[in-house]
Amino acid sequence: MKKKFIPVNEPIFNGNEIKYLKNCISTKWVGSDGKFVNAFEKKLSKYVKRKYAIAVSSGTAALDIAFASLKIKKGDEVILPTFTIISCVNQIIRSGATPVFVDCDLTTWNVNISEIEKKITNKTKVILAVHIYGLSVDMPNLLKLGKKHNIKIIEDASEVLGLEIKNKKCGSFGDISTFSFYTNKHITTGEGGMVLTDNLEIAKKCKNFRNLFFDNKKRFYHKDIGWNYRMSNLNAAVGVAQFENLKKTIRLKRLIGNYYYKNLKSLSDIQLQPLKNNYTKNIFWVFGVLIKKKGKININKIREILFKRGIQTRPFFWPLHKQPFLAKIKKSKDHFPNSEYLSKNGFYLPSGLSLKKNDVDYICKELKKILFNFF
Ligand SMILES: Cc1ncc(COP(=O)(O)O)c(C=O)c1O
Repeated sequence: MKKKFIPVNEPIFNGNEIKYLKNCISTKWVGSDGKFVNAFEKKLSKYVKRKYAIAVSSGTAALDIAFASLKIKKGDEVILPTFTIISCVNQIIRSGATPVFVDCDLTTWNVNISEIEKKITNKTKVILAVHIYGLSVDMPNLLKLGKKHNIKIIEDASEVLGLEIKNKKCGSFGDISTFSFYTNKHITTGEGGMVLTDNLEIAKKCKNFRNLFFDNKKRFYHKDIGWNYRMSNLNAAVGVAQFENLKKTIRLKRLIGNYYYKNLKSLSDIQLQPLKNNYTKNIFWVFGVLIKKKGKININKIREILFKRGIQTRPFFWPLHKQPFLAKIKKSKDHFPNSEYLSKNGFYLPSGLSLKKNDVDYICKELKKILFNFF
C-alpha cells in the first residue's frame, strides 16, 4: 500500500471557484479591470469594516505600498517584530529608513506593547504590528501608544483573517492594514493581497502605487514611481469564491487547532501557542510546536523523521535581525533571545483544510513516539 503523505498545507476549492473562473474566461475579462477585483475589494472592506480596500498581487506588495504611502525615508525609524516574514522589512530597507526590531514574547510568540514602547524615539515614524500564527497583538493598547506619540500604525493581519478583538476584526485597527492570500492563508487567490484603510488620501496613494502611477487623465504620464502590483480578475474570482466559504474555513481551522491542542497539551517536552490570550481566541493559521528541552536529536532530525513517516512540516520564521542581507546593512549587535530560541526550536505541523481527525491522531502519535524515544 502506498504510504500516505500529509502536506503541511493544502487549500481546498469546493465552492464557486471554477464557475467564477469560467466566467472570467468566457467574458475575456482576465486582467485587473474585471468585475471580480472590485467585488473582492468590496467584500473584504465590508467584512473588516474599513472604508477602502485595494487588491494587490501579494501580501508583500500590500506591505510595500502601505509603507510607500506613509513616505518613510532615510532618517526615519520603523519598529517591527524580528520574529516575522521577510516581507515586513523589505520596503523599509529600500526606502532608506531604519528597522528597529522588537523581540517576541515567549508565551504568545507575539510582541508585547511594553517592549515596543521601549524602542520609541523621536525618529519613530511607523510601528508595524504583525499578528503571529493565529493569535493577535494587543491592538487596542498599541493604538493608544501610537496616538500618544503621534506614530502611524500598520497592521499586518495576513495570518489572522477573521480573528476578532472585542468584536472588532483584526485588520481594522491600523491606520493601514494588510492581508496576504497566498496558498496557505485562510482565503487564497493563488497569490494575492489587500491593503485596507479608512483614510482617503492613503487609499488614493496606494491605488497609484499599485498601478505604476498612471495618470488618470493623461495616459502614459507618471508623476511618481510605482509598481505593477495589480490583482488579476482570475485571482480575484477565486478570492470571491473562497470568501463565500470563509466562516466554514475559520470554524474548521479552529477545530483542527483545538484538536491538536487537546492531543498535545500535556506533553512536557513541548510548548504550544496558547488557545487564547487576554483579548482574543487563537484562530490557528498554523499549529506550531516549540521543543522545550534538549533531546538526543535536534528539530531538523525530528522534522526529517516526521517527513519519512509522510508528515510534512515547516520551520518557524528565521528572525529578521539574523538575515544575511540585513547583517551587512545594520551590523547590529542586538540580541533577541526569545525570537532566536523560537526560530531554532520551533516548527509547525500540517493544518490544511482537508486534514481529517485520524490524520491529526496519526501525526500526534508519531510526534509522541519521537519525543518518547529521543527525549
Ligand atoms: C504576516 C505575513 N505578512 C506578509 C506575508 C507575505 O505575503 P505574500 O506571501 O502573499 O507575499 C506573509 C506570508 O506568509 C505573512 O505571513
